[in-house]
Amino acid sequence: MLESSLEETVRLSELIGDLLFLARAESPLTELHRENVNIGELLATVRDYYEASATDAGISLVVNDGAEPLIAELDRSLMLRAVSNLVSNAIAHTPPGGIVTLAAMNEVAAIRIEVSDTGVGIPAEALSRVFDRFFRVDPSRSKTSGGTGLGLAIVQSILALHGGSAEIASQLGRGTRVTLRMSALATR
Ligand SMILES: Nc1ncnc2c1ncn2[C@@H]1O[C@H](COP(=O)(O)OP(=O)(O)OP(=O)(O)O)[C@@H](O)[C@H]1O
Ligand SMILES: [Mg+2]
Repeated sequence: MLESSLEETVRLSELIGDLLFLARAESPLTELHRENVNIGELLATVRDYYEASATDAGISLVVNDGAEPLIAELDRSLMLRAVSNLVSNAIAHTPPGGIVTLAAMNEVAAIRIEVSDTGVGIPAEALSRVFDRFFRVDPSRSKTSGGTGLGLAIVQSILALHGGSAEIASQLGRGTRVTLRMSALATR
């Protein structure tokens, strides 16, 4: 009984933390702590963090960051959080034997980060709602995959704070790709 109330307490405190984050992100007083971030290193940090759980789930986690180092003026801990949320989703929705790929590339004066998986995908009618707070495609599976439906809303608000954008594309049964775009130079 103690164990399950501990679990519930952890879940609630994570929920409160996520809600506070979203509330603060909407405040005009919120400041980014921008620094020069090596995007390849940032992706490698996320990969190292999720490597063990990916292996347990029979999934390979691959980083594709191109030949040249990509540097952008970002809030490092916020961008870590955004990419982590995406990788956590990808691992949760990809069956054993699948691949989750983290990629970064340069666009004209902008940086693109992609997290792609070979997982179950998202039905077309749900795709436009996955960034909504508390929206989950299959809430009946919530016992096993445990989320509250705030992860992508947080990703979107982190990108908005950076003057960037988050987009999702998916094919049922084939996989999902989330694309983050942001300017490489601080715009605000
Ligand atoms: N890579 C993905 N593959 C398939 N479905 C996904 C993927 N990413 C997100 N989803 C769907 O979108 C929903 C919303 O994702 P989101 O990250 O916002 O919430 P969550 O993962 O359910 O909970 P939380 O992130 O708050 O723990 C998920 O519940 C899932 O149904
Ligand atoms: Mg999530």
